[in-house]
Amino acid sequence: MARVNKLKAIGIVGSPRKNGNVDTLVQTVLDGAAQAGYQTAKYSLNEMKYSGCQACEYCKSHERCRLEDDVGKLLQDIKEADAVVFGSPIYFFQFTGQFRLMEDRMYSLIDAGFKSRLKPGKKAVIVTSQGNPDLVSYEKATTEFADVLKLLGFEVKEIIRMDSGSAKDAVLGRKDLLDKARSAGLAL
Ligand SMILES: Cc1cc2nc3c(=O)[nH]c(=O)nc-3n(C[C@H](O)[C@H](O)[C@H](O)COP(=O)(O)O)c2cc1C
Repeated sequence: MARVNKLKAIGIVGSPRKNGNVDTLVQTVLDGAAQAGYQTAKYSLNEMKYSGCQACEYCKSHERCRLEDDVGKLLQDIKEADAVVFGSPIYFFQFTGQFRLMEDRMYSLIDAGFKSRLKPGKKAVIVTSQGNPDLVSYEKATTEFADVLKLLGFEVKEIIRMDSGSAKDAVLGRKDLLDKARSAGLAL
């Protein structure tokens, strides 16, 4: 009997807090995706060893990043994935340093003419968390990252933004966001 390959969804967590708000929401999206039949995997950037982009431009002539580190492997997995859940807390109005170092390395996913090298049809979910109760603050960080994903050819299916997330487990009291995350995964 022919083996049917499962669709693949990966999650990327840019928070250093294990089981924190972003980690939990990314995991919940992945749980929904698994329920929908996806094979899933999660990357915790804080536990990985990697450098920032070196601006060597190797990727423009070789189709891949020259750096052979943990993010090099993650970039390969992004190429193979059908859906990616990108998650980061807000640190000083922006996504975390851990996340942004990884984001710069996504430069290798576009060619010299700024065209995406990714196969079309990839889906994305963005997850953020912030301490500030006002969700209007830092909206720009998310919309700018969504623009990066659109440049890369992703269809951004859902954006989940948590407010008042100073406590690591604050999300456990946010059934609305946990439900939204599971539904986003189920709908991938
Ligand atoms: C270095 C640092 C900078 C932060 N900067 C902001 C900020 O600018 N605005 C904000 O609302 N929260 C800020 N926070 C709070 C986090 O965004 C918030 O606790 C978030 O929910 C953490 O997500 P996590 O639980 O997934 O780690 C900051 C936290 C740290 C440690």
